[in-house]
Amino acid sequence: MSKSKAVLVRTMTRKDVCRHDILSDLRKKHKGLRRLGSGAFADVYGTKSGRTVFKIGATGNPIYDAYLSYVKQIVKHQGNPFFPRVKKVDIYYDREDHESVYVVEMERLKPLDTYGRSNKLPIASRLLFNALMDIDSESDLNTLHENMKLFTTVFARGVKKQLVQTFRQMTEILQDLTDSHGLDMHDGNVMLRGKTQLVITDPVC
Ligand SMILES: Nc1ncnc2c1ncn2[C@@H]1O[C@H](COP(=O)(O)OP(=O)(O)O)[C@@H](O)[C@H]1O
Ligand SMILES: [Mg+2]
Repeated sequence: MSKSKAVLVRTMTRKDVCRHDILSDLRKKHKGLRRLGSGAFADVYGTKSGRTVFKIGATGNPIYDAYLSYVKQIVKHQGNPFFPRVKKVDIYYDREDHESVYVVEMERLKPLDTYGRSNKLPIASRLLFNALMDIDSESDLNTLHENMKLFTTVFARGVKKQLVQTFRQMTEILQDLTDSHGLDMHDGNVMLRGKTQLVITDPVC
């Protein structure tokens, strides 16, 4: 897997940690930010150029936050195409209130339904997508992991080794995360890079 530039992860203390103020600071720096989507825990804003997004979320102690645990793993494995390419992570921490806000700057991805959901994806991506959508427990993840091993043995010559290795690395990281967090696999948390590459944006809660 290719090595890439280290991602800047900064933890800063701030007197008053307020998501609204952090967003308005960001808006001053990046004119024309537009909200692209929201989930239960965060909002995602896109820049005018259309290449970058900022995901802003509030959490209690960031050490226990599921999404930040995922981000800390993916910044170490930026060569893996299943992970979003992250440019910068800022965590604003208010030690007294145990309130914190994070801003993750990353590549802009496309929703899966850009191409009529998964039915227009190439077969390999579609199979992977269906397998991912079937996961709702750690044992499903173990099964997928085992199947992937089997897949490698049976089809090793026919499939790209890189795909198998990176997919396996991704499932291993998800497996590790399930020690402390729940899985949250649904089609809003899987996006596309280009026309075929599935990217797991937000798999745990
Ligand atoms: N990298 C991205 N590029 C474009 N849109 C994104 C990106 N990441 C997330 N989104 C959009 O924002 C929504 C919420 O983001 P998500 O990471 O799932 O946050 P939450 O933790 O709130 O569920 C997603 O459903 C998606 O539409
Ligand atoms: Mg989500």
